Amino acid sequence: MKKLIVLATLALSPVFSAQEMVDKPVQSYQTAQYQAKKKAFVDKLLAKMTLDEKIGQLNLPTSGDFTTGQAQSSDIGKKVEQGLVGGLFNIKGADKIKAVQKVAIEKSRLKIPLIFGMDVIHGYETTFPIPLGLAASWDMNLVQQSARVAAREAASDGINWTFSPMVDISREPRWGRVSEGSGEDPYLGSEIARNMVYGYQGKDLSLNNTILACVKHFALYGASEAGRDYNTVDMSHVRMFNEYFPPYKAAVDAGVASVMASFNEVDGVPATANKWLQTDVLRKMWNFKGFVVTDYTGINEMVDHGLGDIQHVSALALKAGIDMDMVGEGFLTTLKKSLAEGKVTQAEIDTATRRILEAKYDLGLFEDPYRYGDARWAAKEVYNMENRTVARNVAAQSMVLLKNDRQVLPLKKSGTVAVIGPLVNNSMNMGGTWSVATKHGSSVSLMQGLQENYGKEVRFISAKGANIDYDAKLEEIYAAHGKKTDRDSRSKEALLKEAVEVANKADVIVLAIGESAEMSGESSSRTEITIPQSQVELLNELKKTGKPIAMVLFTGRPLALTNVKDTPDAILNAWFAGSEAGSAIADVLFGKVNPSGKLPMTFPRSLGQVPIYYNAKNTGRPLDQKLVEKCEYQRFRSNYMDECNTPLYSFGYGLSYTKFNYSDISISNANPKGNQTIQASVTITNTGDYDGAEVVQLYIRDMVGSITRPVKELKGFQKIFLKKGESRKVTFDVTPEHLKFYNGDLKYDWEPGEFDIMIGTNSDEVKHSKINWSK
Ligand code: BGC
Repeated sequence: MKKLIVLATLALSPVFSAQEMVDKPVQSYQTAQYQAKKKAFVDKLLAKMTLDEKIGQLNLPTSGDFTTGQAQSSDIGKKVEQGLVGGLFNIKGADKIKAVQKVAIEKSRLKIPLIFGMDVIHGYETTFPIPLGLAASWDMNLVQQSARVAAREAASDGINWTFSPMVDISREPRWGRVSEGSGEDPYLGSEIARNMVYGYQGKDLSLNNTILACVKHFALYGASEAGRDYNTVDMSHVRMFNEYFPPYKAAVDAGVASVMASFNEVDGVPATANKWLQTDVLRKMWNFKGFVVTDYTGINEMVDHGLGDIQHVSALALKAGIDMDMVGEGFLTTLKKSLAEGKVTQAEIDTATRRILEAKYDLGLFEDPYRYGDARWAAKEVYNMENRTVARNVAAQSMVLLKNDRQVLPLKKSGTVAVIGPLVNNSMNMGGTWSVATKHGSSVSLMQGLQENYGKEVRFISAKGANIDYDAKLEEIYAAHGKKTDRDSRSKEALLKEAVEVANKADVIVLAIGESAEMSGESSSRTEITIPQSQVELLNELKKTGKPIAMVLFTGRPLALTNVKDTPDAILNAWFAGSEAGSAIADVLFGKVNPSGKLPMTFPRSLGQVPIYYNAKNTGRPLDQKLVEKCEYQRFRSNYMDECNTPLYSFGYGLSYTKFNYSDISISNANPKGNQTIQASVTITNTGDYDGAEVVQLYIRDMVGSITRPVKELKGFQKIFLKKGESRKVTFDVTPEHLKFYNGDLKYDWEPGEFDIMIGTNSDEVKHSKINWSK
């Protein structure tokens, strides 16, 4: 089935050759001969190292940012010279990185090269859609390509380690970091995790254009209570293993070279000191061979968690299985003392040091410490036209059409279009959150994208219409990380008046509203998940003009759109689409690209429904399905008096300019036995007026289990492209692998019985077929 996904999507992704795609873990972990050679090399080096030098390898400071000359003179430069630094992160520029590496190689006693990390989260300078948007493409070929482009660019500029993929499952749209992950589903999340790792690490880690991936944040960070960042997490092990762990495990199975511990606690112990998590699960159950790094000051924060002083928590972290200490220098300043006092062992320090050295060996740094990064190479690789073309394609594929009444979209390539909204001329916000390396000024704004691509045929006129929020102070907080929102000092009335005047001169309105880039991301939790009132009023004012409105939504999280959804004729969710955002949005608005994105996370009707997710449990008092559909209340059933049970837009939802008709499911064998494989097929017909792509989704429900089972779980998907009028049979192979889950004893197995096989266009609209699978 996996093969089918790749083949079906190839047609949509012309830039990379099939040979470049990876479908198994990197070679370096595979041959015994390689492992033996590596071990011999590291043994020899370890034997030469002093205790201080060993602990130094476990130290990962951030640089701030260096100028080339500072490499020698700064405090960090001195530590590098003394062998007290294992790596550095978030330095940008091949020359700067080379200068620091030179200090390590020429001035430190053992000449051990440094690794250079960075938060290359959704692209390097060529920025792709925020990860939640990337997930909405459901196109694993594109997901892998985006990571490959990011790795090539980063490597050419000296980076050999990215703190990505972030795979935290989340059902909590208040949490700003949902923008950095793949949404709510363990299956989709696992596919993405795997493909991101393949994209970064390529076929061979020692090549100079492949880099170490780092799956994060291990674990469960996406379940922080009330969506408040860094907050407490508490959940059952059954839920962890079935619903939250799969993407981390998928990354490990894909050969991810490193893992980042999360800030939150798990079972009452912060992940950074959680031996069960970092050793028993990660290494013993999953056989992880790489190294584990803390998150930023993760060790020091355990003092505030209330686990003890810095010496104690540093020892706890090492003993739990942490190998590298990001920023806090807890290891650097206390491990020697802890060893002398018998609180940690030499073997524990050696093990961690070995893992860091092995990663450097895998990167080929001992052969050539300068192999990553060269200014001339970067000048050719970074933000080049080919990469930007990939980014534009990925961006267009990430967009989700939520509504399209009266076929307002695609827009006609004639007449006058009023382009209105607080960010329509804002390049800086297009990259979205966590885009460390992006040159923000160079992203294509919406207005620029429209003008440059369709300006010959269409007249575009624009107005700001409203600020992001009425509250100037709040807007300042939203832009605190530097992504300016260009607040307009005119009164609200003046802004609205101008917008209405502009709208009145046009045939159609493109209204871009929603969040600004930093309203989601780290430390960007919200208690309201609506569009700010300033922009809702703008929408309502423009509605009075009677002109058709196509709303473009900027957002880094699922928003509750109940108060706006009826007003515009069309809604296109554009997320934050990256460097080429404006061009990609223009391509979709004018129908050059027919939207095919599907939501990777449920959009609730209201915050009160949160957490709301498609793969929920039935409960003992489910609401009658007919009442669910009619949104009617029933006493003593699991529902609300004042709200429907259904979401506004369900997981997997997304429209197209064309229409797809699904046949009933045909099943090759409704009574399979044991390890058989059966086929579930549907025929899809493009019955509309446009060529288009559709994500065909397979869900399964296990009707009876030893523990309660979700009402449905995604188990497969295929993105297919159909010409207008074309039909295609889409077949999913189903095996007992698809039926497995962690039972009450955390044993991963399947249980015989009845299963509901569902295939459809989203998690809500599916065809059903029951089967009975015996052992
Ligand atoms: C974030 C990580 C990130 C790290 C380094 C932390 O605050 O949680 O996701 O990789 O900083 O920048």
